[in-house]
Amino acid sequence: MSLKKISVHDYQIHVGDCLSQVDVLCESVRPSKVFVLVDENTEKCCLPRFQEKTNTEISEVITIPSGEKYKALGTCEKIWRRLFNLRADRKSLLINLGGGVIGDMGGFCASTYMRGIPFMQIPTTLLSQVDASIGGKLGIDYYDLKNSIGVFRNPIGVLIDPTFLQTLPSREIRSGYAETIKHGLIEDKKLWKTCTAIDNVNDAEWNDIILDSLGVKKNIVDKDPLEDGRRKVLNFGHTIGHAIESVMMQEDKSLLHGEAIAVGMVAEAYLSWKYGDLTEAQLEEITSYLISIYGQQEIEKSLFKSFLQKMSYDKKNTGKEINFTFLESIGKSVINQSADQEQIMESLVYYTSYQSPSL
Ligand SMILES: NC(=O)c1ccc[n+]([C@@H]2O[C@H](COP(=O)([O-])OP(=O)(O)OC[C@H]3O[C@@H](n4cnc5c(N)ncnc54)[C@H](O)[C@@H]3O)[C@@H](O)[C@H]2O)c1
Ligand SMILES: [Zn+2]
Repeated sequence: MSLKKISVHDYQIHVGDCLSQVDVLCESVRPSKVFVLVDENTEKCCLPRFQEKTNTEISEVITIPSGEKYKALGTCEKIWRRLFNLRADRKSLLINLGGGVIGDMGGFCASTYMRGIPFMQIPTTLLSQVDASIGGKLGIDYYDLKNSIGVFRNPIGVLIDPTFLQTLPSREIRSGYAETIKHGLIEDKKLWKTCTAIDNVNDAEWNDIILDSLGVKKNIVDKDPLEDGRRKVLNFGHTIGHAIESVMMQEDKSLLHGEAIAVGMVAEAYLSWKYGDLTEAQLEEITSYLISIYGQQEIEKSLFKSFLQKMSYDKKNTGKEINFTFLESIGKSVINQSADQEQIMESLVYYTSYQSPSL
């Protein structure tokens, strides 16, 4: 497996069989102590490989339960307390070995502990490898709102080893893959073509796909690190997708993030066709591909109103209109578009009543 490197601002992202970079980075930072944060799954599935591939002395492994519901202030308190009890000082290093929850929360805890200690991201899910580990957004969920408390701060390095994906359940692989599809749709037609040519998502050759996907995100966040403008393209599929994700969770019919975003991308592609420049042929290409990967979720019409209500809280909206990123074509997108409630309803009806031409 080849080893590649991308530079983002003041840190580097290594992709491939790259865990030996832990030792290189530690050599250069010379931390007083090194701590590794894992959850119960990455402790079992990822820590052994980490230990096998690195020689850096670890002071302590801190393990937390897995799952989004632990991306919370209570868990941060436990992490901070452990760091104090283990006498972590301002020169200590925290290595976050896990998915987006570990990366977001571990990075947040490190950034706030004693006003900030260095941290390294070693993402182990596809979602975190292609998306969450880059861009500097860190945080936790609070007051029933996702990522509502947090900071922007960069790690000393990001090490992406696709071998970790071998133990990741296939439903989680597909969920993370939605972000790669999104990256192709908003900015990289070639990546979209690569995606649609993959025979089986479960045993895809991830190295190059991760690099291309990160390349898209890097270009966007490099130009707009604090989300003042263009970075909003990354929200494609997420305005409707996030609303579906949180309503389905309340209904006890939880979808994984990428599964909800896949529905959101179909609906928002519909809006991009009906009220923007996307062609009908491209809408059909996007819809049929997404449904071939994710199936068609059963979403009752009675929930549409709740989706709209959730969307109306979005801080990107102005007045009654809801803010969207539209596709102008596959690989090209435009921010700050709007649609009203009726148009959004229509896009959801399009998704739920879609019939594949091959059926
Ligand atoms: N910071 C950002 O820019 C950004 C972007 C997108 C998403 N996110 C955040 O990322 C989080 C979701 O990330 P996620 O999907 O990685 O969730 P996650 O961290 O909960 O991981 C999903 C599941 O996979 C398990 N797991 C992780 N690696 C494994 C491996 N190699 N083998 C087996 N099991 C493994 C975890 O224990 C967990 O049960 C959300 O909180 C979201 O808000 C952040
Ligand atoms: Zn997402």
